Amino acid sequence: MKIGSEAHKQLFCGTFFDHHRPYEPEQLGWPALDEPALALLRGLPFWTHALQAEEDAGPMISACAALEPDPMVRRALELQAFEEARHARIIRHMIERYALHADEIHVEVPDDAVEAFIDFGFEECLDSFGAFGLFKLAREHLLVPEALFEIFDQVMQEEASHIVFFLNWFAYRQANRGLLARAFRHPKALRHYLRAARKLAGLAFSKDTDEGKDFIVSGADAFVDNLTPGVVLTACLEENTRRLAGFDGRLLAPRFAPRMARVALGIITRLPRRNGHGLAERR
Ligand SMILES: [Fe+2]
Ligand SMILES: [Fe+2]
Repeated sequence: MKIGSEAHKQLFCGTFFDHHRPYEPEQLGWPALDEPALALLRGLPFWTHALQAEEDAGPMISACAALEPDPMVRRALELQAFEEARHARIIRHMIERYALHADEIHVEVPDDAVEAFIDFGFEECLDSFGAFGLFKLAREHLLVPEALFEIFDQVMQEEASHIVFFLNWFAYRQANRGLLARAFRHPKALRHYLRAARKLAGLAFSKDTDEGKDFIVSGADAFVDNLTPGVVLTACLEENTRRLAGFDGRLLAPRFAPRMARVALGIITRLPRRNGHGLAERR
């Protein structure tokens, strides 16, 4: 598959269309929750952040789609904008249904929507890697009805579809932008990869590094006791592999975060005891 070719475009856009599922948030199988489950959800710290991220994404990607000259690529971008806006509606519905707390949010469309989408896309590659693992740990540990996880399982799979689409869209776009763009194809990717490396290193090697913690562990800390970097990284890797397994092997898929996570995992399993905790506990 030649990246940037018509066949590449047909494949990454076609794959994205195929993965789309029609549904509306109100129609989903929202379970009744008992008081302990409600208290647990109300205690989770990320509803405002999650809502803001999803509310921002839809209009920004719509603006990006409006600038896209190719009809097929434009339709794919519009579809992602629709799915992100639907994620926002899912979270809003959940906040209202279960009386969760979220602050008022304000949405602004960035001046350069394409640049914003590129930043968003790389960020989404990294965040999804963490979110896949967190979701798996939450599903295993939280006393919340499985029906709720089924709803968000679909959301997670849509995010997997978004990151595969994004990486291929980015590579397709760069390949078709002439020599200069091709020569500088990866500065954004590189910046993103360096940030990913820093965050993963923080997570793996420094217990209290904010960057590492905010990446994955602080979220998981909210609901899993005795969480260790090894447990989190292992969950992220397993889920990343599973969620991306269904995509055509000719497409580009996120590789940097999983590679870094494997390196980090390899190192922490060989480290001597730290703070009185042995390896068995830290895995
Ligand atoms: Fe989303
Ligand atoms: Fe997304």
